Amino acid sequence: MRNTLKYITILLLSLFSISSCKKSSTKQNNSLIHKTTGQKVEIENKIDSLLHIMTIEEKVGQMNQYSDFWDVTGPAPKNGSAEIKYTHIKKGLVGAMLNVKGVEHVRAFQKIAVEDTRLGIPLLFGFDVIHGFKTLSPIPLAEASSWDLDAIQKSARVAATEASSAGINWTFAPMVDITRDARWGRVMEGAGEDPFLASKIATARIKGFQGDNLKATNTIAACAKHFAAYGFVEAGKEYNTVDIGASTLHNIVLPPFEAAVQADVKTFMNSFNELNGIPVTGNSYLQREILKGKWNFQGFVVSDWASIRELINWGHAKDSKEASKIAVNAGSDMDMEGYAYVEELAKLVKNGDVKESIIDDAVRRILRVKFELGLFDNPYKYCDIKNEKNTLYNPKHQEAVLYIAKKSIVLLKNENNILPLKKEGQKIALIGALAADKNSPLGSWRIASDDNTAVSVLEGMQKYDGNTLNYQKGVDLIIGQASFVNEVVINQNDKSKFPEAIKAAKESDIVVMVLGEHGFQSGEGRSRTSLGLPGLQQELLEAIFKVNKNIVLVLNNGRPLAIEWATKNIPAIVEAWQLGSQSGNAIAEVLYGDYNPSGKLPMSFPRNVGQLPLYYNYKNTGRPSNDGDNVFWSHYSDSKNTPLFPFGFGLSYTKFKYSNFKINGSKFKLNETIELSIDVTNTGNFDGKEVVQLYIRDLVGSITRPVKELKGFELIAIKKGETKTVNFVLNKNLLGFYNNDGDFITEVGDFKVYIGSNSVDTIEKEIELIN
Ligand code: BGC
Repeated sequence: MRNTLKYITILLLSLFSISSCKKSSTKQNNSLIHKTTGQKVEIENKIDSLLHIMTIEEKVGQMNQYSDFWDVTGPAPKNGSAEIKYTHIKKGLVGAMLNVKGVEHVRAFQKIAVEDTRLGIPLLFGFDVIHGFKTLSPIPLAEASSWDLDAIQKSARVAATEASSAGINWTFAPMVDITRDARWGRVMEGAGEDPFLASKIATARIKGFQGDNLKATNTIAACAKHFAAYGFVEAGKEYNTVDIGASTLHNIVLPPFEAAVQADVKTFMNSFNELNGIPVTGNSYLQREILKGKWNFQGFVVSDWASIRELINWGHAKDSKEASKIAVNAGSDMDMEGYAYVEELAKLVKNGDVKESIIDDAVRRILRVKFELGLFDNPYKYCDIKNEKNTLYNPKHQEAVLYIAKKSIVLLKNENNILPLKKEGQKIALIGALAADKNSPLGSWRIASDDNTAVSVLEGMQKYDGNTLNYQKGVDLIIGQASFVNEVVINQNDKSKFPEAIKAAKESDIVVMVLGEHGFQSGEGRSRTSLGLPGLQQELLEAIFKVNKNIVLVLNNGRPLAIEWATKNIPAIVEAWQLGSQSGNAIAEVLYGDYNPSGKLPMSFPRNVGQLPLYYNYKNTGRPSNDGDNVFWSHYSDSKNTPLFPFGFGLSYTKFKYSNFKINGSKFKLNETIELSIDVTNTGNFDGKEVVQLYIRDLVGSITRPVKELKGFELIAIKKGETKTVNFVLNKNLLGFYNNDGDFITEVGDFKVYIGSNSVDTIEKEIELIN
């Protein structure tokens, strides 16, 4: 009671100072916007009041985040870091927690912060809600294959609804890192290789998480991560050095982050990598100049897990004192589980080594998000046990994730229309290490969810009972149990299950093989140097192919794979990624034609690892082709330059014809809008959906331009026999680029404009931009 009173006192105090310090206008209208900062005046005044009464230790406390440490329903911890953390929360030295699971625990922590500390400032509760909380959507890379922004937004909405019901008010998503290297395990968490597509997807995800009203009980703050350039780790090796030029930084890496700011994302997370010699956690250019300066970001930046302390390992700071000074000056506002700020910052300020105004700015940003979430109005707004029970694994969420799972599937090959499968009278052998797996399809990064809760392909296919289904595992992919934290152990020797599978294949009309990576072979800490089918799966595939060529290969994987042999030999290939809770149902619906696939690859598939990094928007080079038989051109002598499957590629059970490409002129002034249209006709036998893609090429640039750049796309549904006209516009914003100073410019001259069904199969026209 005493504590509750204290909490109310603090609030009254802040309200009092608002009305006493500022003019009465703020009292009349909550949403008055400050002329220069653009912030809500009322919130800013409350923050002023709080900052006024906070000690330096309490301020630094807001900048400190701890991971969950004890069963809060049990006794308080007695030793180790748990005890320190507990004591720190009680003293008001913690601003946020992460990894706290469930309303009961969240409430217990919040109670300490609100009732036992001097100021009663509520905690933020962060969590990696990457592709769902309990009910899981496809991994983000898979969702990106849908190119369906509305579906992606809905998927994030489901994730936020479940997470918020469990007490979480802040997700560490979306990851908006562009990557061109499938060796990097975290490609599964992002939207692929293209900044235009990734920017749209980032916006959709942020809208899904944050909704229209952050004060609602089912919306949560989002976090754009990892700022910046983490996706460019050298050789795809986790946590590695990043060395990229200004053009790549400004044109490829930064746009999705800028889009996130424009979508009003509340927080940013920096990352583990360095950028051109400066670890990004201590990178002032990125965080102060660009993010908080040029883009005017008003939220706060959290470090990645202990990345402030890692400045020492990088050899950028001598000790945690120096690391804290560098990081805070560079604009890192909150220290995630690093113990650096909480130990060093107050001392640094007292000694005059760090300005208190820097701390005040960081705390202001953190408090702002807490106010915007409505935590000061009700710190327990996310703590309703009944709601938690009704929301987690709600059947409606299963429907929602099935919807996006189907849209995420990409049909890579379908020779002789082997797909869709006939629903009756067929003998089908279902073979593969992943065919009956209920864990792997959940993918990586699903720390709140329960193991083995996915619908397997076997279960999905069993629902179609007009055929005879003979399931044989064929081979084990992994040895033992795979988990989020341990290295996955691959079976390299045991072929004992081969004979049964070969026999089943021999006796069947069709073989469906479910092969690929285990869900825990991608994600953080999972870089790989080989991208073929892991373990003995390739050998099994070839052994089965010898006895039955009618194979449908269903791939489960968290990154592009190098599957050259399969692409040449196997008649049908379905890219099914890791599709989450409803995986098997989505795959079965596609295999049986109840859903006509429309997904398109958000990343190029390499022929072999040696081609990496591989991406569609490459530069032409001075020697793009060979004039004769000589070797002196930009190529490999043992591999084609082209990918196995290009960016934007994906088939349908029907066929689409593109015709009648029109542009409203051929010469345009810089300020004019260019209108384009194309007719797309469904000439096949199924109703279907197509992602119509618009690319440009700026033929001559003061900084060389990529051979193609995505500048628009539209997902349309077309009934068989029908034609639809798709319209696009281009303008100087879409035709321009960032120069090496980071300034956006549009240069006059000739452009090619392409429309088509992927980044290779396009029809083109030329336009000229004039002054
Ligand atoms: C990852 C972040 C994640 C954080 C908290 C780090 O290892 O890089 O993406 O949000 O852990 O779990």
